[in-house]
Amino acid sequence: MAKLKIGFIGCGGIANGKHFPGMKQQEEFVDMVAFCDLIPERAEKAAKEYGTEDAKVYTDYHELLADPSIDAVHVLTPNIAHCEITVAALEAGKNVLCEKPMAATEADAKKMLEARDKSGKLLTIGYQYRHFPINQIAKKVIDDGHLGDIYYAEATYLRRRGVPTWGVFTDKSKQGGGPLIDIGTHALDYALFAMNNYEPEYVVGTAFEKLGRLLDGEHQGQTHNGSPNYWNNETFEVEDSAVGHIKMKNGAVINLRASWAINMAEGAGANNEATALFVGTKGGVDTIDQVVRLNHVVAGQQSVTQVGQKIAPYIPGYSQGPAPVSLEAEYWVKALRGESDLFVTADQAYVVTKILDGIYESSKTGKPVYFD
Ligand SMILES: NC(=O)c1ccc[n+]([C@@H]2O[C@H](COP(=O)([O-])OP(=O)(O)OC[C@H]3O[C@@H](n4cnc5c(N)ncnc54)[C@H](O)[C@@H]3O)[C@@H](O)[C@H]2O)c1
Repeated sequence: MAKLKIGFIGCGGIANGKHFPGMKQQEEFVDMVAFCDLIPERAEKAAKEYGTEDAKVYTDYHELLADPSIDAVHVLTPNIAHCEITVAALEAGKNVLCEKPMAATEADAKKMLEARDKSGKLLTIGYQYRHFPINQIAKKVIDDGHLGDIYYAEATYLRRRGVPTWGVFTDKSKQGGGPLIDIGTHALDYALFAMNNYEPEYVVGTAFEKLGRLLDGEHQGQTHNGSPNYWNNETFEVEDSAVGHIKMKNGAVINLRASWAINMAEGAGANNEATALFVGTKGGVDTIDQVVRLNHVVAGQQSVTQVGQKIAPYIPGYSQGPAPVSLEAEYWVKALRGESDLFVTADQAYVVTKILDGIYESSKTGKPVYFD
């Protein structure tokens, strides 16, 4: 089988932190042939570092998509552009890996599903937290039946101070929202995946605009690992924290919490990178403090079993040292080669976006949002 030709649209933080090194690990199967960014130096640098000798550089993604030799593209731009570029790529006959969240709104995500169906091409979304060892282990605990009927879950991604200060993350017109759509999306994606439940009945939620605008440089502070976290509170347009109560059609409830800045000394330094807790009729499992714990009854005793070892997850842009093998890239390339199904389906990611959109809507109206 010939090598797959891959193009990249957006050559910023996540492109350099995850997609370029991840696809480089797949070079037996892929050639990185085209790089596009509105800022030409970014695309040029990427082409030099990762591209084939004849790799092309663009500032207009339409030109990249017009190259019929390209098999797949990665859409790595701010959220608001995911829909437009993904739809154009599918219409141009490309397979697409789009970064999370699938789209800024449910309506956009729906257009992407429709374009996928019309094109018959593959569409997946970059929810790499599913691959983290602890998340895989907790899912296996659930799949092996240790919990029984799951009726309550908590999906959490809280940073005491961790506002992204690169890119356009605090610009509502480019991202569509703040931590809920940025990191809450990972926590919710994982919870739905672990529970294998994609049928929400209604949501009610609140997005808070408190510390992001209130705190000036003097009162902002450091991230969990001590690096400075100073943002511009005058241009901060999105929520800084959000909570959502998600009622599923089978009666289960998921409480979702997401924050970039909150006065909460939770967990190890309040940097709970997409942790989860699931409670069922037989037992419970959680990934709080980066270890999997099964809460169950052994010999009539209330017991807590640590399942496996404590392993720090690798967070692109945060963790030190080289990235481990990118399972996301590996699964994606296997799917492109027809050797496996997609690991993250666009239909699953659509439900995540639908719920997040519902929480924003509920926060605006003060009312629950019901789904069909
Ligand atoms: N999976 C994860 O954990 C994770 C982490 C960070 C960011 N992301 C997602 O990745 C996306 C990008 O985030 P980032 O941190 O890389 O931001 P970034 O600002 O660092 O990079 C985005 C790049 O896209 C370019 N761009 C914008 N519009 C474009 C267009 N129309 N055509 C070509 N290039 C364009 C910008 O010039 C910029 O270089 C966002 O959707 C974000 O949610 C995912």
